[in-house]
Amino acid sequence: MCGIIGYIGKEKCLPKIIHGLEALEYRGYDSAGIAYIENNNLKIIKEKGKIVNLKKLLDFETPSYLGIGHTRWATHGKANKTNAHPHSVGKFTIVHNGIIENYSELKTELVKAGYKFKSETDTEVACAMLDFIYKSEKDILKTLNKASNIFRGSYALGIICSDDDNTLYALRNTSPLIIATSENGNFIASDVPAILKFTNKYLLLNDHEIAKITANNITVYNQNLKEVKKEIKTFTGNLDAAKKDGYEHFMLKEIFEQKQVFQDTINYYFDGTIDSLAKNFEFLKKFQKFDIVACGSAYHAGLIAKSLLEEYANIPVNVEIASEYRYKKCFYDKDTLVILISQSGETADTLAALNKAKNDGITTLAIVNVLESSIARSADHIIYTKAGCEIAVATTKAYLSQLAVFSLLSIYLGYQNKIIKDEELKNIFTDLKNMPNLIEKTLDNANIYFNIGDKIYKNKQIFFMGRGIDYAIAMEASLKLKEISYINSVAYQAGELKHGTISLIDKNTPVIAIATDKNLIEKTISNIKEVKARGAYVIFVSNIVPSEKFYDEFIEVINIHPILESILTIIPLQLLAYKVAKDNNCDIDKPRNLAKSVTVE
Ligand code: F6R
Repeated sequence: MCGIIGYIGKEKCLPKIIHGLEALEYRGYDSAGIAYIENNNLKIIKEKGKIVNLKKLLDFETPSYLGIGHTRWATHGKANKTNAHPHSVGKFTIVHNGIIENYSELKTELVKAGYKFKSETDTEVACAMLDFIYKSEKDILKTLNKASNIFRGSYALGIICSDDDNTLYALRNTSPLIIATSENGNFIASDVPAILKFTNKYLLLNDHEIAKITANNITVYNQNLKEVKKEIKTFTGNLDAAKKDGYEHFMLKEIFEQKQVFQDTINYYFDGTIDSLAKNFEFLKKFQKFDIVACGSAYHAGLIAKSLLEEYANIPVNVEIASEYRYKKCFYDKDTLVILISQSGETADTLAALNKAKNDGITTLAIVNVLESSIARSADHIIYTKAGCEIAVATTKAYLSQLAVFSLLSIYLGYQNKIIKDEELKNIFTDLKNMPNLIEKTLDNANIYFNIGDKIYKNKQIFFMGRGIDYAIAMEASLKLKEISYINSVAYQAGELKHGTISLIDKNTPVIAIATDKNLIEKTISNIKEVKARGAYVIFVSNIVPSEKFYDEFIEVINIHPILESILTIIPLQLLAYKVAKDNNCDIDKPRNLAKSVTVE
């Protein structure tokens, strides 16, 4: 979702800004633009569609040493050139990530003051507001500070003022923004990949802080306009993470990285002993119930967690979609731990749910992938997943790392609460050790799943079904399929189909039925027979090889302790979704309309 990059320094800015925008492409966007200073003149170039369209309009040799660039994911107004950023009004030019919620109120005030607007965006209003305030304040820092008290909502702004065109300014509230520094100049960026080619040294801006950045200097001010000392951090992640390594798509590469991701996540918290789990997770013991809050796939990971924690640890778990939870009446108390799950650590609704719990004095735990992200920084406790940098918009390895964390938490709490006994614990530990090999074995069978994908990719709708934990997996598998292939897909509790949805089952409608829970498999098979009798093309996904042939295709999942089984079950379904999307020539890594990091409500 909207990417920002800005540079000021000794070197030409256009190549750096374009590189930064390309590195942020994974966030999702529908137009791109750039503003730069050339011989004291401001130039703005923007274009609808991909960055390649913008590149055609640029001369990379332009002697410009200060610029800001932006990829826009449309919120206010269509994806077109007029609405694309940067926006310029009077003396100010800005790029913006987030939403200024009171823009309509501000626009009315500005129209009365004589401002005219070309675009439909909240950003142009914010820009005009800066110009308006500046007319009376006559000081850039005071203007930005005043604006940050006037703007409501989330924003990260990169700002150039024509009265000081040797300086880059930045201001943020809630939306992510980092400031990076190198020998040859300084940067602002929405995320680390944008600047990694040039530097790995960066600092973080807190809400309502303002940065004044020149080629040699970065000064950060707080809300009282007092200078704040900032720690320069070093990003130690892998610089090669953003390369495809010969894979056709990042999504495929990331699916194949899951063996390593599982190992990295498990090894971070577990050395083969229950004591290591106790050391890392002991703080969980004092809570009687959990509220798990997240969006999308992270919410689906929460549903798996509910199944495991209730079954193995006897702890009641309430799982909620963050955009609902943030506005609903919550029945939490001091015995409740609110757990936020997020790959990016920047999802606006999840962050808002976290802040709500914190404001109500409830303890929070963030399970996040991105270090130092807003959610990680705000929560009382953090458990990092170790998925590394995920580029494809559709999550795979980060989701799997979330399941790995919940397996560990369920093992630890299950043992603490005496549901898992010594003998079973020993077996689970053996299975944990074997898991990387089993993940590899599953990945080795990719062609089996691809062949099934080839048989169903032309269908207009594909159903998933399952019971209990298998329903939670079905939901994630169905989301994966529909978001990247654009084929309508819905997941149902197997027993629920006959209460309405079965009327949609027609000859050859693909139904992917998941049954790994041995206590429920017979029930699910009965439901499969119901859809089969109505002509469905059944793909049966199970860890038990059936003796009876009630299906058209069979995906065998390797049998393992149920606390780990969903990890092995989701992999074939990720690969199946990938192949269906590929057969349909879809833009797999950047599905239409989607953004990697959803920083608006
Ligand atoms: C689906 C997907 C999304 C995210 C959701 C939450 O493939 O990636 O559904 O899971 O937007 O994002 P995070 O985990 O960053 O909070």
